[in-house]
Amino acid sequence: MTFNSLILIWFDKNKRNLPWRQHKDPYKIWLSEIILQQTRVAQGTAYYLRFADTFPTVRDLAKADETEVLKLWQGLGYYSRARNLHFTAKHIVNELNGIFPENFKDLMKLKGVGEYTAAAIASIAFDEALPAIDGNAFRLYARYFNIHVDISSPQAKKYFFELGKQVIDPNRPGDFNQAVMEMGATICVPVNPKCGICPVNNSCEAIAQKTVELLPIKSKK
Ligand code: ADE
Repeated sequence: MTFNSLILIWFDKNKRNLPWRQHKDPYKIWLSEIILQQTRVAQGTAYYLRFADTFPTVRDLAKADETEVLKLWQGLGYYSRARNLHFTAKHIVNELNGIFPENFKDLMKLKGVGEYTAAAIASIAFDEALPAIDGNAFRLYARYFNIHVDISSPQAKKYFFELGKQVIDPNRPGDFNQAVMEMGATICVPVNPKCGICPVNNSCEAIAQKTVELLPIKSKK
């Protein structure tokens, strides 16, 4: 079986029932992805629920006072995320008629949305087949394909993005990206990865070459 079918089968069986996985509302997917940019799921979930409850639509968030947004954000850190969140909500309401951008290219134009977040939203909310490459994806791809490209090098992002485009499941791109995130967070972890229970351990090139602990290569922090 192929890499993508194996990890999707694993995902279907093991995925967590996270609140932003119950719908395809791009506003709420965006909200969850901004919160999860520098925050773990365990901490971010409560914040997501509070934001989604207080501001159920992008118009509600745009109407809010910045102090209210920042207050709700308290404890998450990186306050520029909260300010960008509010700025972008107002931008969408005032400049885009309240309609959320529907593809990677237009999502990239939003303040606070980089390649990773744009690909995550585009794939989860709009089924666009682009890989979301974060630290988890770097690690999983580097190990599975035994790639010795330095992930702190300028070429790395493009290299892994192109590779991800080759392996992503075009029928379920959002689930594929979330399966990669989840595998990287729970199985293919940086130290003591759980190769024994990994769904792709039979075809993992790093296991075969005994390079798991070496990868990914990261020359500078
Ligand atoms: N981290 C970032 N985005 C995520 C998502 N959609 N699900 C789980 N963890 C994530």
